[in-house]
Amino acid sequence: MAKHGNAIIKGIEIDEVIRLLNKAYADEWLAYYQYYIEAKVIKGIMKDAAIAELDQHAADELRHADMVAQRILQLGGTPLLSPQEWFTHTNCGYEAPQDFDVVAILEDAIKGEQCAIDTYSALADLTKDKDIVTYDIVSQILADEVEHEEDLQALHDDITEFVDHIKSTMK
Ligand SMILES: [Fe+2]
Ligand SMILES: [Fe+2]
Repeated sequence: MAKHGNAIIKGIEIDEVIRLLNKAYADEWLAYYQYYIEAKVIKGIMKDAAIAELDQHAADELRHADMVAQRILQLGGTPLLSPQEWFTHTNCGYEAPQDFDVVAILEDAIKGEQCAIDTYSALADLTKDKDIVTYDIVSQILADEVEHEEDLQALHDDITEFVDHIKSTMK
């Protein structure tokens, strides 16, 4: 635990920051696995572009889990020790892919990113001017999640436009 580093935290309970970071930590692991498995089962048009994006996002979510775990430890907490706890602490839940079509998978992933944006936005609001180090970490992650949403939406739109174009030429 970073004793002096933690003494500069003001106006917020460290235990509450740890509790909320552990919820985000659960989300990151579940998001990691969701991207990992989606990249394996995905089917349909332009799926290679989608697989590249999903694999990149999986790597990013795992990196976020690492950043959050390091901060929990600095604060004197313990990151969740059992995967079973991911399901009891998560904010965003886990949606096992039902429809493996590329468009359905991208739509599920966009919803997941929107939930992550809400989570980190709330954490940034809570820690701003109170816990500068956590604020910095959650702001970096928030910027990544915004980029993730944008990348997925752009790919989703490219694919749906391409499909519409093909349909219109077949009429
Ligand atoms: Fe993330
Ligand atoms: Fe993300």
